[in-house]
Amino acid sequence: MSVVVVQNLRKHYPMGEADVVGLDGVTLTIESGEFVAVMGPSGSGKSTFMHIVGLLDEPTSGRYAFEGSDVTSLSADERADIRSRRLGFVFQSYNLLPRTTALENVELPMIYAGVSEPKRERIALEKMDLVGVAHLREHNSNQMSGGQQQRVAIARSLVNEPALILADEPTGALDTKSSKDVMELFAKLNEEHGKTILIVTHEPDVAAYAKRVVTFRDGCIVSDERRAERAA
Ligand SMILES: Nc1ncnc2c1ncn2[C@@H]1O[C@H](COP(=O)(O)OP(=O)(O)O)[C@@H](O)[C@H]1O
Ligand SMILES: [Mg+2]
Repeated sequence: MSVVVVQNLRKHYPMGEADVVGLDGVTLTIESGEFVAVMGPSGSGKSTFMHIVGLLDEPTSGRYAFEGSDVTSLSADERADIRSRRLGFVFQSYNLLPRTTALENVELPMIYAGVSEPKRERIALEKMDLVGVAHLREHNSNQMSGGQQQRVAIARSLVNEPALILADEPTGALDTKSSKDVMELFAKLNEEHGKTILIVTHEPDVAAYAKRVVTFRDGCIVSDERRAERAA
């Protein structure tokens, strides 16, 4: 099944006289079970693309079908509903709530989704165990390393069983060893648990964990390469 089908996506930012072009006609399909890395130089449109795919922003023109449904002209509330139920987000800066335990952070998306309390804790601990942070359940963000915080954030992205996990520069704030651990975790989630993953990175070492690399330049896709085996 196709999780993402975008056709001729354009995003223009009005800037006085001349528009800034964020995306200049992007067409791409992502199937269920894929692990895709988006690469490209700074300003090439990677984040703009992720924000549109993640229903955080709307294109100026073009079509977007998510899980087979046209999401091009939904209301803000309808987009927020799909975001919370069907998409998982991982950020460069982890975005964990401060003065809140790891367990509570992982439970948060289920609170928004209306999952009952005992069930929330069970699912949160199951996902924390899967990513190797169950022992940190009572730790606050300031008591965890960057790599540990990112694993907690990945557990949080999994709790609602999203159709797609979106990660924009998930290793951007991590040292080499923690980056490797986080990328091995994404590879495991893809290979052993069938998770569909789209990550943005400008580091070839990080992109090497993906099975498909899409390269952007000036708001366009300039290459799209699949490999039988991941390179890293
Ligand atoms: N909110 C915005 N307002 C104006 N221009 C923007 C905005 N967001 C992105 N852009 C412009 O769109 C282009 C693509 O940006 P972006 O998607 O952030 O690239 P990348 O993530 O690849 O670095 C750049 O020229 C950038 O300056
Ligand atoms: Mg960016």
